[in-house]
Amino acid sequence: MISVPKGCKDVLPSRTPLWQYVEERARRTAERYAFREIRTPVFEHTELFARGVGDTTDVVTKEMYTFLDKGGRSVTLRPEGTAGVARAFVENGLQGGVLPFKAYYLCSAYRYERPQAGRLREFHQFGAELYGSAEPQADAEILCFAHAFLRELGLRNFTLKLNSIGCPSCRAAYQEALREYFRPRLGEMCEDCRARFGKNPMRMLDCKEEGCKAIAAGAPRVLDYLCDDCRAHFGEVQSLLRAAGVPFTVDPAIVRGLDYYSRTVFEFATDAAGAQGTLLGGGRYDGLLSQLGAKPTPAVGFGVGLERLLMVMEAEGAETPAPPAADCYLLGMDAPSRTRAFLLAEELRREGISCETDLMARSVKAQFKYADKAAARYVVVIGEEELSSGEAEVKDMRASRSERVKFGGLAQYLKGGKR
Ligand code: HAM
Repeated sequence: MISVPKGCKDVLPSRTPLWQYVEERARRTAERYAFREIRTPVFEHTELFARGVGDTTDVVTKEMYTFLDKGGRSVTLRPEGTAGVARAFVENGLQGGVLPFKAYYLCSAYRYERPQAGRLREFHQFGAELYGSAEPQADAEILCFAHAFLRELGLRNFTLKLNSIGCPSCRAAYQEALREYFRPRLGEMCEDCRARFGKNPMRMLDCKEEGCKAIAAGAPRVLDYLCDDCRAHFGEVQSLLRAAGVPFTVDPAIVRGLDYYSRTVFEFATDAAGAQGTLLGGGRYDGLLSQLGAKPTPAVGFGVGLERLLMVMEAEGAETPAPPAADCYLLGMDAPSRTRAFLLAEELRREGISCETDLMARSVKAQFKYADKAAARYVVVIGEEELSSGEAEVKDMRASRSERVKFGGLAQYLKGGKR
């Protein structure tokens, strides 16, 4: 038997209603904040992620699905949604259009990670990006949006951890302070951290090795190195959140695993079992668009993993939709009635009614059993007598009563006209 690739999951029909529900809430929240949907390719030139996400990140150095296409070009399955949106914005000249540009996406993403609960190789993200505003209001709107989305799904047990990692000018001093701190401790750190030390010491702060984590815990805090502008910006983001009633804690340990961030960074974390802690992450990335060839354009956004979201919703017992059921089941008692049931089902479907009829040559008893399992609200029974009278027996399974309804009046009856 051929199995699904490691780290990938099928979403079976029994689960898709839950996915559709989350996606529908995502779209609904996005529209409330006037973000419009954007769709970009599932693969991009490898260079986009190397340059955009950053060539010292785990995502780029270890986790990308990169291959040569038949033309010998190196392409990569997107490990996240942001870089593609940024490329599309620049390539389509959208910086010349109305700003701020506000877009959201629901997309699959691919990372070659060690699979475990909440960590997959193919996963799905809902994300939003806002381009063109450096104002703290833009950061605050993105944070309010992310918060509103999680609330919309009925989640309550999450915390927003907020930090600022400054701009390139204040970060230079911070990077130097980090090097000074880590230099005498390098011997006790992992090989990856030793490589990060030269290229980007901030990456050492989110190493997953226990020994490195313990050392990183004592490292200088970025907040102590912010320049006046970055400090004022961060202060303003916090006051807006307070005023909007979005609770948060400032957590200097949040540095994020992707290189493009500047100033505000954040994560929504949860304790729900198996969800890997971080549910949603994002921040400001004012340098990325110019790196991709645009004129300097400030940017801020968030991304949330849908698989993790579903795990947390289930762990929290959040309300989810009942699985959909057909409106009615048309039951034929003999061969001619079955044919009539089949044709009536077609007529009803044309009227927008969802219905099923027997496709398995089942006995009458087995058809009743099936209709019950399928949770059809109505069972329309057709037999010899009904064929000659032109009236079906309609059983309302919820109200446990039945009525005789002319074939021609079934659609109206089932739509509620006579209920
Ligand atoms: P990220 O923190 O790498 O940020 O990923 C965002 C979310 O995607 C995570 O919080 C998690 O829920 C989910 N996720 C990441 N990796 C996996 C995985 N292997 N399996 C399952 N879920 C996963 C970004 O991707 C940024 N693009 C977010 C952003 C948008 N920043 C600004 N704009």
